[in-house]
Amino acid sequence: MDKISQSIKHEIEHLVKDLNYHCYRYYVLDSPVISDEEYDRLYHKLKELEDKYHYALPDSPTQRIGAAPLEKFDKVRHTEPMLSLENAFSHEDVMEFDQRIKRYLKSDSEIDYTVEPKYDGLAMELTYKNGLLHKASTRGDGYEGEDVTHNIKTIKSIPLKIEGDDIPDEIDIRGEVYMDIKDFEALNREREKKGEPLFANPRNASAGSIRQLDPSITASRKLHLACYGIGAVKGREFKSQSEFIAWLKKTRFPAPAIIKAVDGIENVIKVINEIEKKRAEFPFETDGAVIKVNDFTLQKQLGIKTREPRWAAAYKFPAHQGTTKILEIIASVGRTGVITPVAMLEPVRIGGVTVSRSTLHNWDEIERKDIRIGDTVVVERAGEVIPRVIMVIKDKRTGREKHFPIPEKCPVCGSKIVREEGEVAVRCIRLDCPAQVQERIRHFVSRGAMDIEGLGEKNVELLYSNGLIKHFVDIYKLKKEDLLNLPRFAEKSAQNLMDAIEKSKRPALSRFLYALGILHVGEYAAVLLAKNFKTIEDLYYIKPEKTACHNTDRRKDRCFNIKLL
Ligand code: IVH
Repeated sequence: MDKISQSIKHEIEHLVKDLNYHCYRYYVLDSPVISDEEYDRLYHKLKELEDKYHYALPDSPTQRIGAAPLEKFDKVRHTEPMLSLENAFSHEDVMEFDQRIKRYLKSDSEIDYTVEPKYDGLAMELTYKNGLLHKASTRGDGYEGEDVTHNIKTIKSIPLKIEGDDIPDEIDIRGEVYMDIKDFEALNREREKKGEPLFANPRNASAGSIRQLDPSITASRKLHLACYGIGAVKGREFKSQSEFIAWLKKTRFPAPAIIKAVDGIENVIKVINEIEKKRAEFPFETDGAVIKVNDFTLQKQLGIKTREPRWAAAYKFPAHQGTTKILEIIASVGRTGVITPVAMLEPVRIGGVTVSRSTLHNWDEIERKDIRIGDTVVVERAGEVIPRVIMVIKDKRTGREKHFPIPEKCPVCGSKIVREEGEVAVRCIRLDCPAQVQERIRHFVSRGAMDIEGLGEKNVELLYSNGLIKHFVDIYKLKKEDLLNLPRFAEKSAQNLMDAIEKSKRPALSRFLYALGILHVGEYAAVLLAKNFKTIEDLYYIKPEKTACHNTDRRKDRCFNIKLL
């Protein structure tokens, strides 16, 4: 071993300092000041010196990797228990939380609160002794967690040493380990390729990555930390959550993306709304906002009730996802004869709406996601979009789940089903299949088409099953007396429908073209067609050759679409 001189020691110390600063710029501030190549060059220089002189500082970036796999996790007792949060699901709940605090403190004055996003990950405690990261543990049951120090060190945004001179003798810093949505999706894509089970959400992916005995696996996952709380402290006093967060920022810890200190619950609600608005822009998943009484003296006064502090609450945003069971899968026939598998679900509330069915799109999708009847699944409902099954939770399988093969016959008319080569869709090709006919009528009368109010799904079925309409043309042959003979119609409702039919008789050409339900003519193509061909007759006699489509290798019957789109 080469003997180390003071100047080499200084050089090593300098390199560690520089590299840690660049790590902080890159992973915490997201604003690097040197290139990746320059970072690598400095890193290798440091590594060479450390190896040559067997001299590595505890906060050297080289200490983050290379730990040997563990046999098992050791247990760690938290000095102060890691608590849970009481949930608030509405603004009223938030107001009630504030009222409770005021009652408890016997005070009418407005309370100072902090509001920050609720990270959906895995709670951690990082213990620093004399400024150095000593231990990292999971929350576990709140009192005792698991020692995951070797894994936590691989997360580059976590300081191995507290920066500066404002360093408590000992401090337990709490935070959430999480994974950005895009990294979670990339990880799942990679796992799918390898045939490995997928993670249900970023939270499970973070938990799965931290609970690895081999730290090299954790190192390969893109994990982050957001620090939001404090446990036991020795040798330093913090007066409030804002002061603690300011200290975190000063000492280079990653703090929550937003944290605001406000007075009074009205302002808290404003910040909650602000965070909810920004929710979609955050790279990470957040399921709510955490409200905390800012002043630590007041926090102490308020204390804990069993496992939750009285001084904090989690306001939960309406969910986008839910977990439920597939009770049945049915084959639904659409207006063009395409047969779609639809999952009938055990009703689940997602974002204030009860979801009880979800399209499975086609059988390729069923196979790709390996969806079976009886499976427990994650369902997503984003905005007004139709709910979809995201994935199967395979751990919940009992062995009694059943496959749902492509039906041999149309479930409605019993005729043969075809699947054209290269197409994922399977179709019933009988044009007068009752399901197709009714779907065509429904499409014809729908809002974007002829917009006949009062002809909803139920009424179309009623008129069809009573033989009054077999084709949308028959709508215009209906008489009021026909309607009055039906169970669901009375004088007024029958007159309303007759009026709506009358009103639909002079549609814009584009609406009419769309209503006809021609293959490949959606709302947009219909508008273009109507612009180019002023009357329906012009279109009727159109020849593909006339459409100035020079792309000879396209199918001729699609020419006008190609030209217009
Ligand atoms: S404060 C007593 N702040 O939510 C205070 N927790 O449901 C407890 N969490 O176990 C922690 N983001 O894992 C706090 N900004 C945040 C949080 C947060 C996520 C988690 C944490 C906790 C759970 C409680």
